[in-house]
Amino acid sequence: MVDRVLVTGGTGKTGALVAQQLTARGVEPRIATRNATMPEQVRFEWGDVASHRTALEGVDAIYLVAPTDRTDHLTVMRPLLEQAVAQGVAQLVLLSASSIDEGGPMMGEVHGWLNANAPRWTILRPSWFMQNFVTQHLPSIINEGCIYSATKHGRIPFIDAADIAAVAVEALVDPVFGSGERILTGPEALSYDEVADRITAVAQRPVHHCRLSVEQLARRYAGFGIPEGYADTLARMDDAISYGSEDRTTTEVEQITGRMPTKLTAFLAAHREAYQGRQSG
Ligand SMILES: NC(=O)c1ccc[n+]([C@@H]2O[C@H](COP(=O)([O-])OP(=O)(O)OC[C@H]3O[C@@H](n4cnc5c(N)ncnc54)[C@H](OP(=O)(O)O)[C@@H]3O)[C@@H](O)[C@H]2O)c1
Repeated sequence: MVDRVLVTGGTGKTGALVAQQLTARGVEPRIATRNATMPEQVRFEWGDVASHRTALEGVDAIYLVAPTDRTDHLTVMRPLLEQAVAQGVAQLVLLSASSIDEGGPMMGEVHGWLNANAPRWTILRPSWFMQNFVTQHLPSIINEGCIYSATKHGRIPFIDAADIAAVAVEALVDPVFGSGERILTGPEALSYDEVADRITAVAQRPVHHCRLSVEQLARRYAGFGIPEGYADTLARMDDAISYGSEDRTTTEVEQITGRMPTKLTAFLAAHREAYQGRQSG
């Protein structure tokens, strides 16, 4: 029986929803964040092993979100993973990405570690999040009418983070959830041109897909303070998308949660107010 789950990335797009959904299921989430201000939160920094001990106390399962400020994921995550296995944590659920295979960069090394060392593990490999259209893409949508990408006509099966969280919670609390990787997608693969048309309809302001080269996109990410290696990796993922790497859908969300994943039009309608902001700058 799972009573308490450590939720790393617990203030993030999926982690916050995992914590909410665990609470709704009667399971206590311990929300890990570098800036703990609430009683249910614990101060946690992946690179600071001293912060791991309190975070791990009495937990039965862990939702693992790799640090987003560095790319040497196995090196920095290994101490906590080893301690978790040593203290008998029953289930480890890693948020990875559809674009990252075992042995690949960043979380790819963690896939192999879990497979070799954890008694029970799940690796969630979602496609790109719908939430990106109300977070990182929002300023350029509002200020320039642009969604920037280097994906050309490539299509992506955007997924609602709430659907990822719902799958994560099943994996965390179901005592017989089988170990393995799960590729998670939304119900339809769309190009950014198609997404721009849908946002235009909801936002009632013209929004376009503004195409960048891979190099321009990497520079754009670096300009936001994303570390150079991470920025290059993200930009190269767009290049792969332009060749069709993400053009697929799976039925995992429906099979695991018993309901269809959210469509982009429904997600955008529910977040309509995000586009009512005024231009800034
Ligand atoms: N966005 C997408 O479309 C997408 C698609 C597929 C996979 N992913 C994967 O999802 C993961 C999360 O990405 P996201 O952009 O959605 O970010 P996010 O989960 O919204 O935010 C990052 C979270 O990680 C925590 N965090 C970051 N660095 C940390 C550190 N050094 N120590 C402790 N906690 C740290 C942050 O906590 P505090 O700031 O509160 O400390 C925050 O809760 C990434 O691994 C990404 O590759 C994203």
